[in-house]
Amino acid sequence: MSEGRSTLLERLKRLTEAYGPSGREEAVRALIEEEVRPLADEVRVDPLGNLIARRAPRGGAGGPSRRVLVAAHMDEIGLITTHIDDDGFVRCEAVGGQDPKVLVGQRVRFENGVVGVIGTEKLEDAKDLKLAKLFIDIGARSGAEARERVRIGDMAVFHRPLEQAGDRLIAKAMDDRSGCAVLIEAMSRLESSPHEIFFVFTVQEEVGLRGARTAAYGVEPDVAVAVDITLAGDTPEPPHRMSVKLGQGPAIKIKDLSVISHRLVRDWMTRTAEAHGIPHQYEVLPIGGTDAGAMQLARSGVPSGVLSIPCRYAHTPAEMVDAGDLENAVRLLVAMLEGPIG
Ligand code: CO
Ligand code: ZN
Repeated sequence: MSEGRSTLLERLKRLTEAYGPSGREEAVRALIEEEVRPLADEVRVDPLGNLIARRAPRGGAGGPSRRVLVAAHMDEIGLITTHIDDDGFVRCEAVGGQDPKVLVGQRVRFENGVVGVIGTEKLEDAKDLKLAKLFIDIGARSGAEARERVRIGDMAVFHRPLEQAGDRLIAKAMDDRSGCAVLIEAMSRLESSPHEIFFVFTVQEEVGLRGARTAAYGVEPDVAVAVDITLAGDTPEPPHRMSVKLGQGPAIKIKDLSVISHRLVRDWMTRTAEAHGIPHQYEVLPIGGTDAGAMQLARSGVPSGVLSIPCRYAHTPAEMVDAGDLENAVRLLVAMLEGPIG
């Protein structure tokens, strides 16, 4: 078990530190592809860039064989360059959900390795803090120098290493590289399954669940599960009243703004967790959505649900998850895939 956990930690470090805003997932995909090739019967990349790793049914007890799609998104939130002024300061728009309050003072990194700091114009009132008031300082002495290093349309992401704090792990892009790591680990531990399983690493979740939409259409699954982070409501005066707590096990999503989890999937998760003594909790998320929202609407509809990883400080450079929750998410996913669906 401890061996599994350290592998998971190393993988999570590699994945979270990689560059991959929405639509620019190539580096993350290359890392994942290298790991899943030996674990899959077939690996392909679809036209939008989703990585699809298929496992043929092999053995497995009980219940009919189904086509199962398990998804985690590769992309992370970012910033996109819109203008560079003559003093060399870079202006940007958001790629995905960015909070200007979080951005001030952060370090960011572009795909070509250029690093910058986010500064702000003078504000009369804290309420005036908008993305339009912020700029990225890449250390250029002039507009010409800045334009040589960064072009319009280039994207930046948070620049931070993964760190451990007790049993908790802190990193940028834990949303959703932690889900990607859980999928890879589950693939490596999964022995027999009656199901044909498609592990899909999706693109462009943060800008509207785009990759999952085409992937689910192409795979045509009988049932779909997204593995993604959810908010934890266990900090002082949390912004959202949520019962989800770090360290209490993976959360079985009941609802968010994109999906009401299908009973079939919710019951499959609950029954499996109970049968294997895996800690779990229920989740109702008052904001946001996941790939399940798009997958459930593929073709004539796909029963879908979400296995959630509790996370504090989502969409910041310091997203925090509990190592035990990751381990239990892997255990639950493996047990689900090895058994009958319902
Ligand atoms: Co997100
Ligand atoms: Zn996510």
